[in-house]
This record gives sequence, structure tokens and C-alpha cells, in this order.
Amino acid sequence: MGICRRLSPLILIVLLVICANGEDPYRFFTWNITYGDIYPLGVKQQGILINGQFPGPQIESVTNDNLIVSIFNSLDEPFLISWNGVQQRRNSWQDGVYGTNCPIPPGQNFTYNLQVKDQIGSYFYFPSLALHKAAGGYGGIKIASRSVIPVPFPPPAGDFTILSGDWYKKNHTDLKAILDSGSDLPLPDGLIINGHGSNGDTFTVEQGKTYRFRISNVGLAISINFRIQGHKMLLVEVEGTHTLQNTYESLDIHLGQSYSVLVTADQAPQDYYIVVSTRFTSQVLSATSILHYSNSAGSVAGPPPGGPTTQIDWSIEQARSLRRNLTASGPRPNPQGSYHYGLINTTRTIRLANSAPIVNGKQRFAVNSVSFIPADTPLKLADYFKIPGVFSLGSIPDSSSGGGAYLQTSVMAADFRGFAEVVFENPEDTVQSWHVDGHTFFVVGMDGGQWSDASRLNYNLRDTISRCTVQVYPKSWTAVYMPLDNVGMWNIRSENWARQYLGQQFYLRVYSAANSWRDEYPIPSNALLCGRTLGHRT
Ligand SMILES: *[C@@H]1O[C@H](CO)[C@@H](O)[C@H](O)[C@H]1NC(C)=O
Ligand SMILES: *[C@@H]1O[C@H](CO)[C@@H](O)[C@H](O)[C@H]1NC(C)=O
Ligand SMILES: *[C@@H]1O[C@H](CO)[C@@H](O)[C@H](O)[C@H]1NC(C)=O
Ligand SMILES: *[C@@H]1O[C@H](CO)[C@@H](O)[C@H](O)[C@H]1NC(C)=O
Ligand SMILES: *[C@@H]1O[C@H](CO)[C@@H](O)[C@H](O)[C@H]1NC(C)=O
Repeated sequence: MGICRRLSPLILIVLLVICANGEDPYRFFTWNITYGDIYPLGVKQQGILINGQFPGPQIESVTNDNLIVSIFNSLDEPFLISWNGVQQRRNSWQDGVYGTNCPIPPGQNFTYNLQVKDQIGSYFYFPSLALHKAAGGYGGIKIASRSVIPVPFPPPAGDFTILSGDWYKKNHTDLKAILDSGSDLPLPDGLIINGHGSNGDTFTVEQGKTYRFRISNVGLAISINFRIQGHKMLLVEVEGTHTLQNTYESLDIHLGQSYSVLVTADQAPQDYYIVVSTRFTSQVLSATSILHYSNSAGSVAGPPPGGPTTQIDWSIEQARSLRRNLTASGPRPNPQGSYHYGLINTTRTIRLANSAPIVNGKQRFAVNSVSFIPADTPLKLADYFKIPGVFSLGSIPDSSSGGGAYLQTSVMAADFRGFAEVVFENPEDTVQSWHVDGHTFFVVGMDGGQWSDASRLNYNLRDTISRCTVQVYPKSWTAVYMPLDNVGMWNIRSENWARQYLGQQFYLRVYSAANSWRDEYPIPSNALLCGRTLGHRT
């Protein structure tokens, strides 16, 4: 990655003070990234640890907190962390993907300066480069409401984080080599919950009390279903939206998604299975943890409860049942339902179709026939320093022409304060999961078949949730309304990591001509430089 350059700590401190709202509290984190032995599926593997932990330390924060995270890269390769769901308002400089940041070279450190501005909810962070995510390096992020903001349920007796997903016994360098050679990844070897295979983790509850579980799918390849033996789940939050509190027996959680449920320990005092299992796979993988009553009279009994047996229809019905609680507060005192997204005219329709082409004899994945390849320089920095030839705007079309696939560093131009209708169209027979950095969007519709203008007649323009990661079922479409309210260079990607790595992603450059700090923060003075930015000054 070349030699990167840092500016002095003094300038860094000055910048932190300028860039963050002085009234909002600071939280400081120092993280040492190392390799270490982990045993997720019972065999020893080299995992990516943060301060010796896998999963990494949880970030506990409150709306508007400034998070100062110093990362010391003690690996033997370049490293970056990205923050799934943290919006980085005016601040794509901190997004931690290769299109916005130079990698932290081995043996060096970098300090992220994030603010969880106007956000609440449950999210996670993860290592964004190469296939590092296959080695761990991820952890939970909680953003609590400020004390003056009412929360639409009583404070739970406890708050548990469940980071679950598929896992490979092959290490991240071997997995990357498979992709580099032009093949897709095989099926994962198993599922894990908080770094453990079956029965590795125990959640202790007191009978009669209610607990919050924040569940994220941090896997690489497969949707999961989550359930707790003998217990119902009251859904309360999805990626920052307080939902109508519907009751579910089990929840489908697609790659990169996060859900919060309340669970009351209202059963006979014993131990119960917490189960995750794969969805839409011919072979079902699963993992269990234990819900342990503190007055438990016995260990788990019977087989772990099975998942839904019906496939797509059940899942799409469940997805449509997710509604916003129109009277509950979001991050601000005004009711979050007062944002009448359904009355705003869209300024543009973007239709994004995924595909799995073979290009030059190798497996690739593409959006609108464009398979993304990284440039030698982060796009945000090339844009800032006006370095020509790194990318060009308009290098991905607004809809698919169905033509042959090609490789390109694809960047789509967008106007700040636009209001886009984005239709994700999935002609393939696998579930897709799409994530947009820097934004949340309203999920207005999803259905099987081909999207058309008439599909708009069935949009939910009243009380759908807004979130940052959405699934698209096989041979189906999902439509979202997305306010383009955040200037910067933002990654739009498949959360399936092989697809992302092999090109199913691009960048959206949300642009304001004003060139004002009100719209976008200046480049941080500690920004690492690399590629064609070497020799420039921040
Ligand atoms: C990180 O951990 C490694 C291994 O324990 C240690 O050698 C190194 O000094 C640590 N670095 C920092 C900055 O704490
Ligand atoms: C790297 O760590 C050193 C020692 O803690 C600190 O002085 C410096 O500011 C850090 N650099 C960055 C870019 O965070
Ligand atoms: C919606 O939020 C309100 C206000 O906090 C709360 O009283 C109510 O129980 C919630 N309703 C549902 C159905 O979730
Ligand atoms: C991954 O495993 C291969 C052997 O299959 C080994 O050569 C390589 O060093 C390992 N890489 C890491 C990061 O553990
Ligand atoms: C939306 O567009 C319609 C038709 O062009 C127009 O009548 C209406 O005033 C617009 N609404 C808003 C809020 O701009």
C-alpha cells in the first residue's frame, strides 16, 4: 500500500475539537489488533482479536457521543475497521472502507473520530479489507437514547448482544485465494454465536424479568433464523427504528442486519436453547446457546426447536410485518413518525440489478453489469485532491441495460438533498442483502417477480421502517426511498462477502456545490495518505 504519512498529534487534537460538537460527550477507545488462537468450531484457528478478544469489545454509546477509537494494527497486513450502520454524518472520512480511507499499515496506528449523531439502535463494526471478516475482528455497537428522550418500553433487566453468523474452518488468506483464483466460496462449515459453536455461550436471566437481545448477522454468506426455545420475542427496534411491538416465534436475519427483541423469562425455571440456523440452504447448519434461568432446576430438554419450514413466502410476510411505531421517539424529541417520507416526491429512480457473470474466465459479481474493482487510491481522497484518472462519475448506469459485464471502478453521482427511489432487482435464485453506508432508507415495498411502475401502487408510504441493510428475495425486488442527506463518498455493497469482494458494490458520491462545513467536514489532519495521494498535504 506504499508508505503512509501521519500528521502530529497536536494537530489531531485541534481537529477533534473543531470537528465535533463541543457539548457532546467523548468516549475513548484504544484497540490493539492482533492475531490469536480461537476455536469457534472446535478446531484451532488464527483469529483477528481486538485487545485479545473475539468478538471485539462492545461499543456502548449514547446519541450524539463522539467516539475516539485509536487502532493499533499489530497484524502483518494493512487493516481497516468500518462501522455498519453508523451514519458518519458529513464525515465519510471516517467510514473505514477502502474507497474512503487508506489502510492502516502493519505496525502503525490511526485514530477514528466518529460521532453517533442523531442515531439510536443496534449495529456492529467489522474489518473491511480483504477477507479479514472471516477471521473475526468484529464487535457490537449500541447507541442508547439520551436520558431526556422517552423509549417506548420499560428499561429491560439486562441487555445482551448476539453476534451470529456462518463460519469457515479455512482461514481468511485461504478464502481470499479461492476468490482471487476465480471461484466462489464453498458453503460455510458451521454457524457461531459470539465466537462459539454450539452451547458455548450462556445468557443468565432471572425468572419474571424482561431482557433485551440485540442480534446481528455478522456472517459472510448466509441468512439466518433466530429463536429461543419456549419463549416469544417482542420486536422493538430494527437498525435505529422503534418498531410496532409485534410478537415473533422466530426471526429471519439477513447478512449485515440487526434486530432488537424483548424476551421475558416467563417459563418454568430451567435452561432453554437459543438457536440460529441457516435459511434457504439445502443443508441446514445450526448453532445453539443457552438461556439459563438463575433458579434453573435443570439443563436443556428435548431437541432445539426447528426453524420455519416454509421458505420465501413466510419470510417475505414477516418482512412486510415490520412497521414503525409512529408515536415512538427516535433519536430526537419530535416523534420519528412525523417524517412523512410518503409525501415527498422522489427526484430520481435508481434500479440496481445484481448478476454473477464470468469475466475473463473468472467468477465475478456485478451491479447493472459493472463489476467493481478498487482503484490504487481511495476514491474519497482522489476526489478531494482532484487527482484525475482514479475514477469517473457516471461509471455505473442508473439501471441495467442487460449488456455484458465489465470491470470498472464504479462511482455514481448524486445530488445532496435529492430523494431517491432505489429498486433492488434480483434476477438470481439466491437471497441478496444490500447495505448503504452513510444513509438509512425507508423500505417501501418488496415482492416476487419483475418490478414495474405499477408496483408503486402497493408501496407502504405510511409506516414502514427505515434501516440501512435490506434483503432481496430470489427472483424478486425490494424498493426503498432514500433521502440523500449526507455529503460524501458512500459504499453501496452486497453484504455477502464473496460477492462484495468480487465486485457487487459501487460508490455513491453525494455532492454539494456549497463546499461548506455545514455540509461536509474538512479532511481530518490525521488522514493517512497512500497511492497517488502520497506527496499531497491534508
Ligand atoms: C499489541 O499486542 C501485541 C501482542 O500482545 C504486543 O506485542 C504489542 O506491544 C501491543 N501493542 C500495543 C500498542 O499495545
Ligand atoms: C499513534 O499512537 C501514538 C501513541 O499513542 C499517538 O501519539 C499518535 O497520535 C497516534 N497516531 C494516530 C494517527 O492516531
Ligand atoms: C408505540 O410507542 C408508544 C409511545 O412510546 C408506546 O406507548 C406504545 O406502546 C407503542 N406501541 C406499539 C404497538 O409498539
Ligand atoms: C492460512 O492457512 C494456510 C495453510 O492452509 C497458511 O499457509 C497461512 O499462513 C494461514 N494464514 C493465516 C493468516 O493464518
Ligand atoms: C409532487 O409532485 C406533484 C405532481 O408533480 C405536485 O403536484 C406536488 O405539489 C409535489 N409535492 C411536493 C411536496 O413537492
